[in-house]
Amino acid sequence: MTYQNILSEIKANILYITINREAKLNALNKATLLELADVIAYASRTEEVRGVLLTGAGEKAFVAGADISEFSSYNTEQGEALARNGQVNVFDAIEKCNKPFVAAINGFALGGGLELAMACHIRVAADTAKMGLPEVTLGLIPGYGGTQRLTRLVGKGRATEMITTADMITAERAEKIGLVNHVVPLAELIGKAEEILNKIKQRAPLAIASAIRTVNAAVTEGVNGFEVEIEEFGNCFGTADFKEGVGAFLEKRKADFKGR
Ligand code: COA
Repeated sequence: MTYQNILSEIKANILYITINREAKLNALNKATLLELADVIAYASRTEEVRGVLLTGAGEKAFVAGADISEFSSYNTEQGEALARNGQVNVFDAIEKCNKPFVAAINGFALGGGLELAMACHIRVAADTAKMGLPEVTLGLIPGYGGTQRLTRLVGKGRATEMITTADMITAERAEKIGLVNHVVPLAELIGKAEEILNKIKQRAPLAIASAIRTVNAAVTEGVNGFEVEIEEFGNCFGTADFKEGVGAFLEKRKADFKGR
């Protein structure tokens, strides 16, 4: 698939995805969501990809939300379908992906933009970034998982305040409440995200995938995360990567993991 709204490129086992609608502050229209769904599926199935760096084009916005111009005349059914399709094909697909996604938040992350960053496994923000869920100013609520993921990340009280006031918060505040992992100057943003991914890509890929599934289980309703951990832990022993990792330790050499 050739993309019109996103840029994607693999460099040194990292897939760089840039949402590229700078004139519209990288707002997520339907076409962009379809392209994102496609590139996420590509990341999942492509062995060369050991991690994904997701960012927005330009210096102003990561993503300023879902494209408001597209859903202005929607009815109840269309609204529900919009949320369901987006959640399944993009937002949940990122969270469940077997490759780690790091969001590099380079500016405004609002509405669907913050929801996109929250679906990623790790978030790094520029000190100039602003984050918020302003949907109630439009007569809506977040529909791409924002009410759930924000609550899990920052707790019920803070999530309710952010969602009901629609206030934007600074990157510094976001780090303080656990919404982002790191805040750095804009010029160092991509470097910081790469630093994290470069570390992860040296680790055992199947163990990374197991870790993602197991951490997700901790916040999945009706799933016993401890049981998932026991099973995933056991599965690791059946991998060639486990033999390589332990062998390398005992032989005092660097492990060369193959993801097998
Ligand atoms: N959907 C569609 N278009 C959007 C958009 C969105 N979510 N966010 C920004 N844009 C467009 C603007 O319409 C404008 O397009 P135009 O130049 O063709 O008129 C362009 O991006 C630039 O945005 P603008 O509003 O002029 O920039 P600003 O610096 O004055 O304000 C924001 C920046 C982020 C505060 C403002 O764009 C905004 O509030 N966006 C909507 C945020 C939102 O409610 N998101 C949740 C959606 S559910």
